[in-house]
Formats: sequence, structure tokens, C-alpha cells
Amino acid sequence: MKYKIAVLSGDGIGPDVTEESVKVLGSIAKKFGHEFAFEYEDVGGISIDKCGIAITEETLGRCLDNEAILFGAVGGPKWDDPNNDVRPEDGILKLRKELDLFANIRPAKVYESLIDSSPLKKDILKNVDFIIIRELTSGLYFGEPKKRWSESGNRFAVDTLKYNEEEIRRVVRVGFEMARKRSKRLHSLDKMNVMATSRLWREIAEEVSEEYDDVELIHMLADNAAMQIITNPSVFDVIVTENTFGDILSDEAAVIGGSMGMLPSASLSSVPGQKQDKVSLKPALYEPIHGSAPDISGKGIANPMASILSVAMMLRWSFDLYAEANCIENVIDSLIKEGIRTKDIAIGGHDFLKTYEIGDLISERVANYEN
Ligand code: NAD
Ligand code: IPM
Ligand code: MN
Repeated sequence: MKYKIAVLSGDGIGPDVTEESVKVLGSIAKKFGHEFAFEYEDVGGISIDKCGIAITEETLGRCLDNEAILFGAVGGPKWDDPNNDVRPEDGILKLRKELDLFANIRPAKVYESLIDSSPLKKDILKNVDFIIIRELTSGLYFGEPKKRWSESGNRFAVDTLKYNEEEIRRVVRVGFEMARKRSKRLHSLDKMNVMATSRLWREIAEEVSEEYDDVELIHMLADNAAMQIITNPSVFDVIVTENTFGDILSDEAAVIGGSMGMLPSASLSSVPGQKQDKVSLKPALYEPIHGSAPDISGKGIANPMASILSVAMMLRWSFDLYAEANCIENVIDSLIKEGIRTKDIAIGGHDFLKTYEIGDLISERVANYEN
């Protein structure tokens, strides 16, 4: 079967890691007899340089013509002047908003043999495997007003944290659906002791929980959760939270996974498990949680595994190709177990492979994979 994928690799290490993902998809295609058609588009700083904006309407339109989007990363010091009117990050924000990708699934898994790569104590990392579901199309990122101004020689700026009940309900439902398939425990994080939006969040979460009496809903304040992710991460299984909290806590969770280079993500516009007609369904977007990593860009040492694992999520969530997704994840599991490393997870002078070498090796193992 033929699957259409838009590839937006962006800036910095984005193109490096995405190239390896495309390589691995090529190997999956051969092994399992599929065809993947790739349509390459600009996004981020490279699009600003060529077209003056971080994503053009044409690119957005072409993304909609595909069945899934593989995204790299955007941003970098070249475009970071605070006085600039356009920013590379506008590209990913616009995609998320226009495609209504409200549920960002960020799994945080600990690989046994990577425990030494984490600065945390071994005991803390035993049996850690949780998912953060981050609301992605509302909250502080998009609320209006959002602006800067001056008054009586004083500079002001405002961002607005706003949610409506439907925005909360649909992402909390994603949390319940996922919890139902896992440990039947859902942590909902908020700051209800301070914020009106959090109090609404908690109220809606309680209402939605009426539909899921098999799932235990546990409310936790987000600052406490930040502490527990480091001190007691095995208490979590599925976490659902608003946009900004989810952004910050998922980078924190990368410490548990050993590196930013290991955490994939999927951004969806529907609640998994709930039927939606194919016509209105927007393509989902898959991206590593990391950014363009200017500090290592151009060195050929970026870890492509977060991007390649995002491709595994794409195969599973967008194309229902479960054996193919498992194949990629099992190959990565076994490489890690054998001690094969990229620089970010190689500790104590351990040998490591370059970005393209890891991509080659994963592709080769996929080609020779036996279930
Ligand atoms: P970052 O995620 O790019 O990097 C943080 C640290 O993690 C760096 O030390 C980096 O070297 C390391 N790292 C990240 N990915 C890695 C990988 N695959 N392999 C090895 N090491 C890796 O975050 P930052 O430095 O705060 O941001 C840099 C730029 O990226 C900014 O412009 C930011 O806005 C942008 N950004 C974009 C996205 C996105 O496009 N979705 C996500 C996060 C940050
Ligand atoms: C992420 C990034 C983005 C975010 C930026 C680049 C807009 O940090 O995907 O986690 O804050 O959502
Ligand atoms: Mn982030």
C-alpha cells in the first residue's frame, strides 16, 4: 500500500535526524512491501530565509494533502533577535493550530541499559514507563492578548492563559482512553491553588471521569509533579496536562530517558479509540521532543533515535502498521542493550556512532529483522 508523508525537517539538527528516519522508512518499505511517498517542504528559519515567514499557506495546504507529517525541529541563534517580527517557532505553532493537533503524546521510557546515562540514582529509575499527554493548541501559547507595549516609559508584555471547557474535555478524554489501556490510573496536573484555568481544568476532568469509572483520576499540583518526576517517577503511568506545563515537564522527563535524543512524540487531532470519519480527520504530526540543538548542529553527532521512534509512532497511530512499528522499537531496544551509543548517551569515554551510522545500522537491522 502507498502512504503519503510530508517531510518538514526544518533547521539545525532537524534535517540530520529526519534524513535517518526517512532512511529507516525506506528499509521498512522494502521489508514489509509498502510504498512511502515523501513530499519535502520548508519550515522554520529556512522558510523565513526563503519566503519571509516560518510556514507558507502553500506548505500548510500541501501538509493537508498528506496522511502524516514528519517534522524535524525549528529555530536557532540566527533568527533569535527578540525584535524580529517572525520567528522559526511560528512554523510549528501554526501547524499545530491549523491542523488542530490538540493532543501531544510524549512517552517517557527508561531503557534498562541506559540507566547509567541518567544522572538520577538507579533505584529511582526502576520500572519507569509513563506517557505525558500535553494539550497543544491552546493555553499561553495561543491566548490573546499576546503583545508588548510601552506606557509612561515603562515596558509591558502580556501572554494570556485561556482555556474553554471543550479544549480541556477532549484532551482529558485522550488521557482517560490511554489510561484505560494501561494501568487505569490517570494523573491530571494543574495549579488549581493559583489559577482560574486550572480550577476549570480540574472541574472538567472530574466531569469526564464520570464516563470512565474503571480509571482512577488523581489530581496533582504541577510543581509537586515536577519534583516527583525526578524523585518518584514510577508513580506515574499516564499524565495529562496543559500546554506549558507539558512542555516543561516533558523536557524534565528526558533526563529520565537518558537524553533529549531519545524521546519521540505524536500530535493528534482526534481522541484515539473514538471513531471519526476519515474525511474530517487531519494528518497527525510526528516529531522528536527536542529542538534544533544549535550547540551540536553540523557535527554529525545528533541522536536520531527520537525521530526514528517518532516514525514508529506514525506507523502505529496513522497507518495501523503495528508489526512495522514494533520492528523499529525492538531494533532500537536491542541496539541499546548491545551497548551501541550516540554521543549524548555514551558515558565515561564509551565509543559512539555518528548520526548517519546509527541510521544505517537501524535500517540494516530492520532489513534483517526476524520476529
Ligand atoms: P534543544 O532541544 O534543541 O537542545 C537541548 C539540549 O539537548 C542541547 O544540549 C542539545 O545538544 C541536546 N540535544 C537535543 N536533541 C538532541 C539529539 N537529538 N541528540 C543529542 N543531543 C540533543 O533545546 P534548546 O537548545 O533549548 O533550543 C534550541 C532551539 O530549538 C530553539 O530555537 C528552540 O526554540 C528550538 N526548539 C524547537 C523545537 C521544535 O521544533 N519542535 C523543540 C524544542 C526547541
Ligand atoms: C516543543 C518546543 C516548542 C514548544 C517550541 C519550539 C515552540 O519546545 O515542541 O517542545 O514550546 O512547544
Ligand atoms: Mn519543548
